[in-house]
Amino acid sequence: MSASQKSVVDFQDLLQRFTFDNICMVAYGYDPAYLLPSFPEAKFANAFEEVVRISSDRFNSLAPFIWKLKRILNVGSEKKLRVCATQIRDMAKEMIKQKKERSNYNKRSSDDLLSRFLISSDEQQNMHDEEFIIDIVISFILAGRDTTSAALTWFIWLISKNPEVEKEILKETTNTTTSSLTYDEVKDMPYTHASLCESMRLYPPVPVDTKEAMQDDILPDGTFAKKGTRISYHPYAMGRVEDIWGKDWQAFRPERWLKKDVKTGNWKFVPKDPFVYPVFQAGPRVCLGKDMAFLQMKKVVAGVLPRFRFVPVVDEGEEPVLIAYLTIKVKGGLMVRIEERTKSY
Ligand code: HEM
Repeated sequence: MSASQKSVVDFQDLLQRFTFDNICMVAYGYDPAYLLPSFPEAKFANAFEEVVRISSDRFNSLAPFIWKLKRILNVGSEKKLRVCATQIRDMAKEMIKQKKERSNYNKRSSDDLLSRFLISSDEQQNMHDEEFIIDIVISFILAGRDTTSAALTWFIWLISKNPEVEKEILKETTNTTTSSLTYDEVKDMPYTHASLCESMRLYPPVPVDTKEAMQDDILPDGTFAKKGTRISYHPYAMGRVEDIWGKDWQAFRPERWLKKDVKTGNWKFVPKDPFVYPVFQAGPRVCLGKDMAFLQMKKVVAGVLPRFRFVPVVDEGEEPVLIAYLTIKVKGGLMVRIEERTKSY
């Protein structure tokens, strides 16, 4: 509809609505339907947004006693945090109640995470209490909602600036039958895969991540970390290090992830060491949703790019402004004009 009206839409908002609906289906088996053409008020998603923003402000606060005092007095941002967190937990409780009432979660047809946890709880005689299940389901929504939308938002921005990359992706995606893409089919989209990796090198959805030593520890390079020490790793900075990526680190160049097969002339994706590219973290606690995220992103790219061109509505020479809470965002949204493509590749 936006394409036929040539209207301007906030593509970031659109993607956030899409990924929120999507992850709620995976976690709860419930579609909040925020991606309707009317763009309904996304109450539950907004509560998540507020919780993430206020928690991350807490973390970055230079004077933590201020938020602690607000928490004791239950005023300002801390009051808001409490209200939003309660909304989220209440909604999760309601979901569990509804599933139990319908009691169809124990039919093997339920594929969502919540049903699976409820089934395993039943089988293991309530091994997980309800609060634990709520925590798991909420953490999945947190992990999966803004990460893929952030990745796709910056991806759309980068390909709009790099038409030769867009053309190469189009060559790959126009050959796919988008509605029935399976995991095996998207695995064979090496140029698109490389473009997404390259986009997340420059704009990692989780730009910085912090760990705390649970006990005295020694890092692999011999650095001593006393119990309670917080250590951050910085995928955003690491993606821009010349020693790692070379002199052209600023260039959006998917080819740095690819090798041409000499026999067939086809692209082959060459992954990087996750400790060099920790966009999904590295080591034993890597992102559990990585494959799903790539599947989802490639399905979106293959589904919409061959049909539409996304033209950011920004002044000449202007760049989107990056803001970061737990995940990155474009400040004020990414306004784009959606144009229907006429040319096939
Ligand atoms: C482009 C998309 C994504 C990126 C860049 C990403 C990145 C990350 C990162 C950096 C972590 C480590 C966080 C930490 O422990 O400090 C993580 C963990 C996790 N992610 Fe993702 N993620 C993405 C998509 C998803 C999706 C779609 C899901 C769910 C369906 C998901 C589920 C998880 C889970 C469950 C963990 C916790 C793993 C554990 O602690 O053992 N992620 N992700």
